[in-house]
Amino acid sequence: MKHLFKQGSDTKAPVLLLLHGTGGTEHDLLGLADMVSPGSSVLSVRGNVLENGMLRFFRRLAEGVFDMEDLQFRTKELHDFVNQASVDYTFDRSNVVAIGYSNGANIAASMLFHIPGSLSGAILHHPMVPRREIALPNLTGVSCFIGAGNNDPICAPSETEELTSLLTDAGANVTVHWESAGHQLTRTEVEASAAWYQATYK
Ligand code: MLT
Repeated sequence: MKHLFKQGSDTKAPVLLLLHGTGGTEHDLLGLADMVSPGSSVLSVRGNVLENGMLRFFRRLAEGVFDMEDLQFRTKELHDFVNQASVDYTFDRSNVVAIGYSNGANIAASMLFHIPGSLSGAILHHPMVPRREIALPNLTGVSCFIGAGNNDPICAPSETEELTSLLTDAGANVTVHWESAGHQLTRTEVEASAAWYQATYK
């Protein structure tokens, strides 16, 4: 997969896996990584799917309606890519924290839902429930920050609550941060995620 890797100064800090939103690129979230964990190495990946010229991490049939077959295929593809990157760039595969926004948060959530041990933690900005009616793996020891907008037209508050329950029931430690905002990523939400990260991974 197209990506960029930036070696960090702190080799013990989690590696940040950056996953952009629909229409973004691997450059979009680099500023977030600097705010959240300036010493971390960064693996920022470009989505492999094109929708009307916009890059994404998996196909959808309509707004909010995911192509489940493609979601599962792309989730495994991304997981395998991170496995290989950990060999190529010699980082600890068991110490990877995703930071995803929107479509990128959805594929990060899908990794948590489908593949045990794929992420040690995740900062999910405006995620949806990636899939229903499956048993989640045991997520004990996995820490998640969810940033949500109480006016988000793409991801309703009830969806945030459902995702929180599913992850919590699977054993994850979940913190939800609400903004009086819509689907956009605000500076105060990123500051909250940075504070959460620093408290969680100190
Ligand atoms: C998705 O398709 O992943 C969600 O609808 C978020 C987005 O608009 O990308």
